Parts: sequence; structure tokens; C-alpha cells
Amino acid sequence: MFVCLIYLSVIKVQAAGKPVSQDSIRPGQVWPDSDGNHIQAHGGGIIKIKRTYYWYGEQRGKGLDPKFRYVSCYSSKDLTNWKFMGNVVKMLPPDTLSDKWVLERPKVFYNAGTKKYVMYFHLDDRGYKIAQVGVATCDKPDGEYKYVKRFRPLGHESRDIGQFIDDDGTAYLVFEDRPFGFRIARLSKDYMDVEKEMTLVKAHMEGGAIVHYQGLYYSIGSALTGWNANPNKYSTAPTLEGPWTAFKDIAPVLTNTYGSQSTMLIKVVGTKKTTVIFMGDIWKPKTQYDSRYLWMPLEIGDGKLWLPEPKPWKLNIKTGETSFSKN
Ligand code: DGJ
Repeated sequence: MFVCLIYLSVIKVQAAGKPVSQDSIRPGQVWPDSDGNHIQAHGGGIIKIKRTYYWYGEQRGKGLDPKFRYVSCYSSKDLTNWKFMGNVVKMLPPDTLSDKWVLERPKVFYNAGTKKYVMYFHLDDRGYKIAQVGVATCDKPDGEYKYVKRFRPLGHESRDIGQFIDDDGTAYLVFEDRPFGFRIARLSKDYMDVEKEMTLVKAHMEGGAIVHYQGLYYSIGSALTGWNANPNKYSTAPTLEGPWTAFKDIAPVLTNTYGSQSTMLIKVVGTKKTTVIFMGDIWKPKTQYDSRYLWMPLEIGDGKLWLPEPKPWKLNIKTGETSFSKN
């Protein structure tokens, strides 16, 4: 049985290279892009520009030049079929950083005022001691992003970052500040700085993600267990400033969030239904190119949130409705 499973997953990886169209999102499985290659957008973030979604993430594909750090960009109209638009960041260590630096969890915000795409990412050394964000900008969503600067937001340590754009368009950065908890802070008008702290949630959590749903803010985070999965938890608040409730499990504790870690919550407002998607990473630290994704529509409302057992599902991007698929 074990040999058989390994064999099947090799077959899937080898199938890469053929044009592929998806009818379902299959949590935990290889997710082929439109060229048939497993999507490389780990620890990612998603923005919607008109009718197109852009997914940015850590490019951890095989055969990359180890001198560089890469951020990939994919585009989609339906959140299911993704086209690889290229690596929008291919970067050497900035200024005085050694070549053993880390670029993780890129998030892009579009600033309608400056018409710039502003990327934030977690910038660090391999010991995760620098704890800063890096900022890079571009004039288009899928062009070459130019590095601008690095800093600690509002002077605080920042490791995992998350992005949140509220219904009124205001952009926020969520960042893990190891000594204290995690912070939610508003970006400056041009998005080039982190300007105002909304809240410090005194819980030691990373992989921070937020959604505003039916008048309530929901935040999800994971415990600090490196690449290993743990039981992710959620909290709610009437405003971003809080007060935030005590954290509760989002899935049966023993499943360790079905082996995944939160990255983002995506709200799809359809003509019939608003669906909130949990977007998580299933990390494979020894073979990161094969890390997977766990995307599932959440059961959410009235202050409760639950991640159902993962299985293949379909999203109707127009109506917002979801259904389970046969495979
Ligand atoms: C957990 C974080 O969520 C990941 O982004 C990464 O930084 C790992 N820790 C590194 O161990």
C-alpha cells in the first residue's frame, strides 16, 4: 500500500507539463497550473483586480538558482484554474544581508491612488533574528517588482505576515511580533509604510489571516511550531481594535488542521452566496517544491467558524456557491 501511494504521487508529479483545466479544487493534491506544473505559490496572498485574481507566493520549484529568492505570480478568473505569469521577484540579498537570507509569505496590495502594486514580504536571516518586512513595487500586477526597503513595522519584530483588505478598501498588514503576540496595522496612504496599529492580539500565533464577514472580524492563526502543522485557532471581534474573543479550534485538534497552516482567508461575494475560503499550506520542509495547499470553504457565521474535512469541491465564482465533487 505504502509503495503504491508513493508510486501514485510520482505519477502525478510526472504528469506535469501538459495543459490542464481544473473543474475542482482538490485540497492536499498536486495542483496543476494551466501548463500542468504544480503551483508554486506557498505562503501566498491573493488580490482581485477587476475580474482577475492574482496569487503571489514563495516560488520553491526545482532547479532554481540558489543565489536568488523568488516570488511567483499566477492569475485566474475562477480561483480554480491558474496561469503562471512568471516570477515577479528574483532577488539577490539586499544591502548587507548574507546570501543565507530568507524571503517568505509575499503579499501584494494595489494602491489605486499611486497605481502601484506594493509587495510586502517577510525578510530574515536563516536564524529568523532580523524579523523585518521587505517592500518591493511594480507598475503592473505581473511585472518585475523592484526592491525598495526593509524595516520593522512600527519598530516591532515581524515574522509571518498576512494581508487584509477591508470592505471599504483599507489595507492592513498582520504581523507576528514574537515577544508580544500578533499585530494588525493599517498601511500608509501610499502603502509604502505601516502607519497605525489597530490592535495587538496577545496570542503567540503566526500565519495570521483575517476576514470581515457579516459585521464581524474573524482572525485565524497557527501556533509556533516551525514547518510542523498544529491546531489552528480563531477569534472574533466587532472591530479590528477588538476586543478579540478567546481563541477556539477551527478543526478537530488531533488532525492538526488536517496537516495545514493558515495563510489567508478569501471572501468571494457572489450573486447568491458569500463564501469564505480557508487558504492553507501543507508544508513539506524536505521537499518544499512539493508542498501542497489546503483550500476549503469554511462554515462561518454568528461568531462561529469551522474548517470542514477536506475533500474536492467546486466554486461557482459568479454565484459564490460551492459543492463537493466526486473526485
Ligand atoms: C512557520 C512559518 O509560518 C513559515 O512561514 C516559516 O517561517 C516556518 N515557520 C519556518 O520554520
